[in-house]
Amino acid sequence: MELGIRSPVHATLFHHFSNSLLFPARLTLLNTTSSSFMATHLHVSSEEFDPSPSLAIGQHDLLIVGPGILGRLVAHNWRQEYSGCQVFGQTATTNHHRELTEIGINPSLKWTKASLKFPYVIFCAPPYQSSDYLGDLRLAASCWNGEGALLFTSSSAPYDCNDNGLCHEDSPVVPTGRSPRTDVLLKAEKIVLEFGGSVLRLSGLYKVDKGAHAYWLEKGIVESRPDHILNLIHYEDAASLSVAILKKQFRGRIFLGCDNHPLSRQEVMDLVYKSGKFSKKFEKFTGTDDPLGKRLNNSRTRQEVGWEPKYSSFAHFLETI
Ligand SMILES: NC(=O)c1ccc[n+]([C@@H]2O[C@H](COP(=O)([O-])OP(=O)(O)OC[C@H]3O[C@@H](n4cnc5c(N)ncnc54)[C@H](OP(=O)(O)O)[C@@H]3O)[C@@H](O)[C@H]2O)c1
Repeated sequence: MELGIRSPVHATLFHHFSNSLLFPARLTLLNTTSSSFMATHLHVSSEEFDPSPSLAIGQHDLLIVGPGILGRLVAHNWRQEYSGCQVFGQTATTNHHRELTEIGINPSLKWTKASLKFPYVIFCAPPYQSSDYLGDLRLAASCWNGEGALLFTSSSAPYDCNDNGLCHEDSPVVPTGRSPRTDVLLKAEKIVLEFGGSVLRLSGLYKVDKGAHAYWLEKGIVESRPDHILNLIHYEDAASLSVAILKKQFRGRIFLGCDNHPLSRQEVMDLVYKSGKFSKKFEKFTGTDDPLGKRLNNSRTRQEVGWEPKYSSFAHFLETI
């Protein structure tokens, strides 16, 4: 996505040892497509990795169901914690298998259908790409061997609050039957909790070129009310929190991922404008009577997991780019 970000910032994202080869990959913020991953001196097969039942699974090996933006950051952090471990990625299509192989994730459409069991499983696939999300969750949960941890990255959407009021981990959720979107998330959470896994309810994920601000910059005029309060967490912080939860091997717990700096939609776009880092111009929010939002606080999660975000707020993040 081209957002007209003013200064191209280069970041070396992945330096890891995998399949006996060192794969340096660089990413420019102005071009975040797969073509920016440069693997050198390397033969990469685009064919699907065979989920052979004879594969040896180590005690820190990780299966990521949905190795998208968040899943790939989790893989990167996990490998830093446990060098030499294997990371497996299950996708919906083979579209990104080459990229995944290049960054050391063994991709397949079928890991959860193989007879293998994994000590660590994280499910971070969004619901919209699947015709049977709950079935996918069940399969993922049943290929966890019960030793390390199972984690489902859910959403903070189910908290039943639309008056810009306060919510925390244990606040009430929307009753079943009111919204198909929250119904599917709550049913998915229930499956994971019954298996002894844990749930991380994430607020709005963002990075420089993705998230609510990027979407609104693209649109220019947005038919939503400006005073709706939303909650954010940077993708890197969602990944570090996920890894911290996995490492602590919790059982049957619900955590919340947010930066504790809720902002109104208008405040988000005012910060974007004031940062001077984006050349695209946002015009306005035009809604008047759509629902308000909520103010999330995850002090309990921070204390129990022993985690703090790298980006304490959206404003802090903007200062760093
Ligand atoms: N975006 C937000 O603001 C937000 C807020 C709250 C929670 N979350 C949650 O955060 C998690 C990570 O989001 P993200 O932005 O990193 O996602 P993303 O980049 O869109 O990742 C999509 C990945 O999931 C794979 N996938 C999709 N459906 C699948 C399925 N049924 N089985 C296996 N793989 C599947 C895709 O495979 P292909 O490579 O084949 O496409 C792709 O690898 C998700 O659980 C999402 O629901 C997001």
